[in-house]
Formats: sequence, structure tokens, C-alpha cells
Amino acid sequence: MAITDNPICKGLVNKHKNRLKPIIRHKLFLKWLPSICNLNLSVLATIFGTDKLAHGYIPRYESLLSGLRNRKLNMLEIGIGGYKDPHQGGESLRMWKAYFPRVNVHGLDIYDKSGMKESRIRIWQGSQIDEEILNRIVNSSSAGLDIIIDDGSHRNEHIISTFEILFPRLNKGGWYFVEDTQTSYWPEYGGKTEKHDNTESTAMGYFKNLVDGLNHEELKIPDYQPTYFDINIDSIFFWHNLIAIHKSG
Ligand SMILES: C[S@@+](CC[C@H](N)C(=O)[O-])C[C@H]1O[C@@H](n2cnc3c(N)ncnc32)[C@H](O)[C@@H]1O
Repeated sequence: MAITDNPICKGLVNKHKNRLKPIIRHKLFLKWLPSICNLNLSVLATIFGTDKLAHGYIPRYESLLSGLRNRKLNMLEIGIGGYKDPHQGGESLRMWKAYFPRVNVHGLDIYDKSGMKESRIRIWQGSQIDEEILNRIVNSSSAGLDIIIDDGSHRNEHIISTFEILFPRLNKGGWYFVEDTQTSYWPEYGGKTEKHDNTESTAMGYFKNLVDGLNHEELKIPDYQPTYFDINIDSIFFWHNLIAIHKSG
């Protein structure tokens, strides 16, 4: 795995990869090294220890988000990690902060994760289905949100409610990700063990239904009124346990 795409840093960093990892984690290096050396997301995922790597999500994220790397961005990740333990979690928040040098990262968790706060990382406590806190997070930045990741409760009804609240508030051209959609097949999370058609009230059923909306102009349904999602979704990607929805720009 190449640690960096920058040819000047490539030889040096690859040669000293293992020795560099603990150094890179140091605050001073994190300020400039990832962006100057263009450390790729897989390397940052390893350094920060996020399980997004083991899940196979990192190449997906990188393929869609690398073009935004040097932009000024605001993002929200729902689910900070570590559950009840106030000292555990935050791996992905720190990875995003290192990957996007100009991002402000918001993290939301049902448990108190205030200890994870640092520059460019803001911590919120509340439920992902609480419309009031979701609106407060969006309103906290005058620039709105460009990227939203739902890695929270993974309950099917929560995934759908959160999407319906937040997608309309996502900036135009923004990305919305839903992780761990295997719970669509887990009854204890409100899922169903068989194949899903697009009428199921599971995350997979719900997002499959939105796919028809991409072609809403072709529907031969008399007096069909396009929904907000028909009009504002530009593309939807499905991978193993990960969905990405792109908002029209
Ligand atoms: C899988 S972990 C998140 C991992 C983290 N996103 C990462 O990649 O490092 C899920 C987190 O979601 C939180 N959570 C569970 N239910 C929630 C809810 N209703 N609203 C917000 N967060 C919730 C849990 O406390 C837990 O910390």
C-alpha cells in the first residue's frame, strides 16, 4: 500500500513507514504532514485505528471524496464510537480531520464524548433521531454541512428518520453515507432476513426505492408529483454494507 501519493514524500515515507506511524500521530505532525505529503486515507485509517478499514469502506470513501480534499468543508459523523466509555472512540473523527486539512468535523453520540473535543472537532451529545439537535448542528455553521456519515445506532427506523431530517439540510453537491447496512437483514435492528424489495421499511428497502426517483421523469404515472428526493438526488451507490447518496449540485 502506498503511504502517500506525493512523489517527493513517497520514497522517504515508504522507507520509514513503520517508524513514522507513531510520529505522525503526534499533534505537531498532524498539523501539516497528512496534507503536505498527501497521506492517503488508508494510511490515516491505520494510523488512527478506525474500523472503517477492516469493513472495506476506506477505498469507497477515498474514491468519492479525494477531489474535495483541499476544500473548506463541514462534516458530521453520527456515532463517535466507544459506546458508554467516555474515553473510547473518536478514531474516525481524527482521521477525517487529518485527511481534510480545512474541515470542521462534528461528531454526535448518544453518550457523553466531550473528552474527544479538539481543534476542528466539535462534539455533540444526543440521539440521531432528535430533530432539534440535528438542526442545531446544521445551524451551528453558516456554511452548512457538505458530508454526513450515519454510523450511529444502525437501527433501520433510525437510519431512515435521520436521512429524512438531514438530507434536505445537506449542502447542494454534498454526500450522505450510511454505514453497516447489514442490519437491514438483522431482525433485532428492525431488519428482515430475506431479500428486500423496495417496499420494505428497512434501510435497504428504503434506499432501493429512491433509485426509481433518479428516473422519475420517465415514470408513466398520471399526475406524478416528484418528491424532494426524486428532484435532489443525483446518484446513489450501493456497496457491501455501505450506501452513498450524492445530492444534486
Ligand atoms: C459503530 S460506533 C461508531 C464508530 C465511529 N463512527 C468510528 O468510525 O470510529 C456507534 C456509535 O453510535 C452511538 N450511538 C448509538 N445509538 C445512537 C443514537 N441513537 N444516536 C447517536 N449515536 C448513537 C454509540 O454510542 C456508538 O458510540
